[in-house]
Amino acid sequence: MSEPSKHDFKEPRVWRIQHLAQAKLANRKLTMLTSYDALTARIFESAGVDTILVGDSYGNVQLGYDSTLPVTIDDMERATAAVARATSRPLIIADLPFGTYEASPTQAFESASRLMRVGANAVKLEGGTARTSSVSLLTSSGIPVVGHLGFTPQSENTLGGPRIQGRGTARNRLMEDALALQEAGACMIVLELIPAHVAREITNALEIPTIGIGAGPDTSGQVLVWSDMAGMTEWTPSFAKRFAELGAALENAASTYCQEVRDGTFPTPDYYYAE
Ligand code: KIV
Repeated sequence: MSEPSKHDFKEPRVWRIQHLAQAKLANRKLTMLTSYDALTARIFESAGVDTILVGDSYGNVQLGYDSTLPVTIDDMERATAAVARATSRPLIIADLPFGTYEASPTQAFESASRLMRVGANAVKLEGGTARTSSVSLLTSSGIPVVGHLGFTPQSENTLGGPRIQGRGTARNRLMEDALALQEAGACMIVLELIPAHVAREITNALEIPTIGIGAGPDTSGQVLVWSDMAGMTEWTPSFAKRFAELGAALENAASTYCQEVRDGTFPTPDYYYAE
């Protein structure tokens, strides 16, 4: 019998949770971008992205924080609702922010249900074996859960900053965490900043798909923070390819606008009503 190929995968009209595992089985790579607002979510849906992550990178990207830690459930609720209003095809995954799920499964349920009510199709939380009871409660309560292992930004203070995880014997711990999340019912796992061979081993050991960021080419799909992908800022992490230079293009548009307003070349008669 031949290996499943991506040609066996029927592209869904609307992405639902079962399509994630089906895509992995058919070797059809999954695409995910972050979005925190209706404007970009609409564009990413038109571009054909499979899943949108309303990540807590919202804090760094749009709210001006230097980490994800200050992001609140109110922030995530508003961003998730905006993305949900603007899209109908991609699967929407919303991050549970720091301090809203770690204390107990009940706390996790209360926070997750707020994000589901405004339009998330799944929630993402960081951590492995320590989170399995929350993952079980959420999945058995009708809330699909995406795990997040490797460099987990909410733990940057214990991890000592954005550093590669899972090197050497730490690989075994990552593998245990991934298997435990799957066993607890997680539908997918984000693997961030880990060696490519470890990401490959974990992906091969799991039935559920993995989504990589700085984890090499052999995960079931890839995720990037949209502003990194689009080149919105001067600095981008080394693992994030800049697929455009939108920051420079926007700056150029804004500065041309200012110049034309100041020198009176905008608005010309094309842009106003004489009567
Ligand atoms: O919040 C986020 O953008 C994330 C990605 C880095 C995976 O969790």
